[in-house]
Amino acid sequence: MNLKSYDIIVLGGGPGGYVAAIKAAQLGGKVALIEKEVVGGICLNHGCIPTKTLLKNAKVYKTIKHASEYGIVLGGDVSFDWSLMLKRKDSVVRRLTTGVSGLLKKNGVDVISGFGKVLSATKVEVNGEVFETKNLILATGASPIIPPIPGLKEAYEHKIAVTSRELLAIKDAPKKLVIIGGGVIGVEFATIFSSLGSDVTIIEKLDGIIPMMDDDIRSQYQKILKREGIKIFVNAEVKAVKGNEVTYQIDGKDETVTADTILVSVGMRPNSAELEVLNLKMDRAAVVTDEHLETSVKGVYAIGDLNGKYMLAHVASAEGIVAAEYIMGKKDARMRYDRVPNAIYGSPEVASVGLTEKEVKEKGIAYKVSTFPLQASGKALADNEKDGFVKLIVSEKYKEILGAHILSYGASDLIAELGVTMTLEGTANEIAHTIHPHPTLSEIIMEAAHGAVDKPIHM
Ligand code: NAI
Repeated sequence: MNLKSYDIIVLGGGPGGYVAAIKAAQLGGKVALIEKEVVGGICLNHGCIPTKTLLKNAKVYKTIKHASEYGIVLGGDVSFDWSLMLKRKDSVVRRLTTGVSGLLKKNGVDVISGFGKVLSATKVEVNGEVFETKNLILATGASPIIPPIPGLKEAYEHKIAVTSRELLAIKDAPKKLVIIGGGVIGVEFATIFSSLGSDVTIIEKLDGIIPMMDDDIRSQYQKILKREGIKIFVNAEVKAVKGNEVTYQIDGKDETVTADTILVSVGMRPNSAELEVLNLKMDRAAVVTDEHLETSVKGVYAIGDLNGKYMLAHVASAEGIVAAEYIMGKKDARMRYDRVPNAIYGSPEVASVGLTEKEVKEKGIAYKVSTFPLQASGKALADNEKDGFVKLIVSEKYKEILGAHILSYGASDLIAELGVTMTLEGTANEIAHTIHPHPTLSEIIMEAAHGAVDKPIHM
């Protein structure tokens, strides 16, 4: 029997896999994408997009509650309907996943629904049918870690403890939410539910939340979250979960907090267990790849969360493009990981690209720091947004951008300017002398750049 054969089979239809499939098809490849659920992966279905939708809901609710600050007089109590919020979230998700399906179809990608069982580097079985391929792109993602804390597994089984996926579909907004892990997921959900009036506690084992960010941003962000009423315990280790009680150790003492929902957000583990047959070189659960995303087995590539480098949708997509281009003959296609932007969505947002000040110091580079606060931005004040600042770290001699860190509403959009500057190997001089429209939030970057070169104008 003749097997159906492809140039490339992509396993997993998240932002890594579907982008790789589209790119490869655009470059003339015969491509199949295997997905066991709905295309779009965690990002579209259970992560980035649903959380951003709910964050917007929460922000609107909070803004309405503060209507008087804008001279708006409301007639009565303001309330929200969680089920309607979920409905909006589901409709945004549906629209996007339908869009992705359409794009795959338009680009001539065969989407095969079902669990793809990898038989070898060139054969994958789906629903009993075997497909053949010259190249295999693995994009199977990652799953939340449930750490071995006594009682946590049971709490998860009884649905008291949840991961972000279940929390995004929870029937009622929790009244008391305890979050284990103050990373990206932890703080985004803390923002959603505290804005909606939940009592939120974050328990973080390190000395501060969002450890991947620059220390100045972290400490300011932590203060803002605390001011908003979120309780944050750092250097705190969760010892046990018993029913709805979470016991943690802090300063050598055991403390207990009760919750109606416990969010577990302590990181993700790559989904590599089903790939053992390939005997790939591994770094714990992550598949080891080179700069073209090729694994230790020729013709087999691993992109996105599966290679454990950066568990970010935009990195997965960029890797998908590199892998597809490389396979399709563009042998100079390679990943650059030194300019990966990071963003945390909330009120305010956090975004960064390049090195933190700590990393610059560790590398022994002579540097200069320039900051500019939102308080000095006309646009920010008009928008009633006063929290945050930009921090540029530039090389002392040429003022080349080494790292950019923004704490501000809109930070996730602002950071792209700095990424482009870094790609062009630009300096603070170019940013300072690029005319930014007035009044806009982007001026805070220009002002910080002026500060890096000389002095800001408006401070
Ligand atoms: P994370 O790695 O961002 O943060 C986990 C946090 O949990 C860390 O601060 C860590 O110190 C802490 N921790 C670990 N074990 C702990 C324990 N036993 N007790 C208390 N604290 C503990 O992981 P997170 O938030 O689960 O996110 C998973 C992945 O999803 C990340 O790689 C993240 O980058 C990605 N993601 C990205 C988003 C974005 O770019 N905006 C949004 C949501 C997720």
